[in-house]
Amino acid sequence: MPSYVASIDQGTTSTRTMIFDHSGQVVASDQREHRQIFPRAGWVEHDAEEIWENTRAVTAGALAKADLQASDIVAVGLTNQRETTLVWDRTTGKPVHHAIVWQDTRTDKIVDELGALGGGQERYRATTGLPLATYFSGPKVKWILDNVDGARERAEAGDLLFGNMDTWVLWNMTGGPEGGLHVTDPTNASRTLLMNLDTLSWEAGHAADMGIPMSMLPEIRSSSEVYAPGRERGALSGVPIAGILGDQQAATFGQACLSPGEAKNTYGTGNFVLLNTGTEKVMSQNGLLTTVCYKIGSNETVYALEGSIAVTGALVQWLRDNLGLINSAAEIEEHARTVENNGGAYFVPAFSGLFAPYWRSDARGVIAGLTRFVNKGHLARAVLEATAFQSREVIEAMNADSGVPLKSLKVDGGMVVNELLMQFQADILGVPVIRPVVSETTALGAAYAAGLAVGFWESEDDIRNNWAKDKEWIPSMDEQRREAEFHNWKKAVTKTFGWVE
Ligand code: G3P
Repeated sequence: MPSYVASIDQGTTSTRTMIFDHSGQVVASDQREHRQIFPRAGWVEHDAEEIWENTRAVTAGALAKADLQASDIVAVGLTNQRETTLVWDRTTGKPVHHAIVWQDTRTDKIVDELGALGGGQERYRATTGLPLATYFSGPKVKWILDNVDGARERAEAGDLLFGNMDTWVLWNMTGGPEGGLHVTDPTNASRTLLMNLDTLSWEAGHAADMGIPMSMLPEIRSSSEVYAPGRERGALSGVPIAGILGDQQAATFGQACLSPGEAKNTYGTGNFVLLNTGTEKVMSQNGLLTTVCYKIGSNETVYALEGSIAVTGALVQWLRDNLGLINSAAEIEEHARTVENNGGAYFVPAFSGLFAPYWRSDARGVIAGLTRFVNKGHLARAVLEATAFQSREVIEAMNADSGVPLKSLKVDGGMVVNELLMQFQADILGVPVIRPVVSETTALGAAYAAGLAVGFWESEDDIRNNWAKDKEWIPSMDEQRREAEFHNWKKAVTKTFGWVE
């Protein structure tokens, strides 16, 4: 009897395959980073062929590490960086351009032009739950069709396919040009500005606004069902591919935030707070997104409110890769521990403009409050604190939208190993912060979606029962200091506005 589920997590900086057992514990994991391509200021690209190569390598790698074969795996789930946009040729399987990453701001003019058709930034809000912003896929597809020679003609002739990274990986895993499945799920589709949140189908009018032929768009299926078996020659040959969730929704699922009112915060390249609002679609009045949380088979759609923050962990990476101030991400905590506080410095990493709750593409990063007193330790603290302050901003918006203040926050992702950050997060929020035993909740969530589809897990209760607390941080900062710090942060944020004219 096969007794494991595999999960492929195609993220912003790396791709990894993890294998889980029935209790939701990690059995093996393999991971590879891919190149971040920055052709110009504000542009971020990935090589999708490199990503597919890495996907194959880490899948074979994880199986080998666990000493397992395809026949030991009951199902495989996919999860992915959302919004990152790829257009490829259905006959050759070749991308017509690098993938345009979610952080990329090149579509700012397209976004303004779409808004000018009427409705401004709110043009598609009622149908899609999203503001018009460079973050989402639709305008990125338009950019490719407008800027790659011959692409629009080929698209109109039906030769080109669009997909986010879930669709690209699935299409390749199921045979590529030889019968590859061109499918996505509603969590990914809900990030394109092209999907209707009620009907879970593509909006022809939005696609027409952006000049995107409907034939390019993948079929939208549920997040948990058997789509197809893995292709014959692959490491997972014959294994049912049975779950697709965008990575933040997958983390919400893996954190067992399965009832209305439950929320998680994932600390990755960016931070993403998602609040399960049940089958009710809550429209934000405070700068958040309304998005699909998951749709399990034929069950009703579950929605979420989302606070998306573009740059958190990426700021630590920037300090390491662009400035060389640290040698490894872990060093940031060591430097931060050399001082008592931020020394008056605040670092607002508006590298991709500001996402929630501001949605300002004209913003760029600033360090405010510098004096000669400020040293490397203070800056390291300011870098870590930026993640916690930005998280508080979106959680305040969430409290205002839902009318029910969050009582505690479940956290996951790479940065939750950072104890100083976790304590500061609890301090600045004034509520406990809770880390689960398995903090790889993104991969776990996609595994659950796949395992539920094939009956490996019977119901969502299995997910709730598998969840266990590892550590909890209790707020210890006094109220006055908490509010003074947050006030200074807000002041620093205003300094980022209007930088790009
Ligand atoms: O919306 C972007 C998000 O899905 C990226 O997540 O973890 O790859 O930074 P991550």
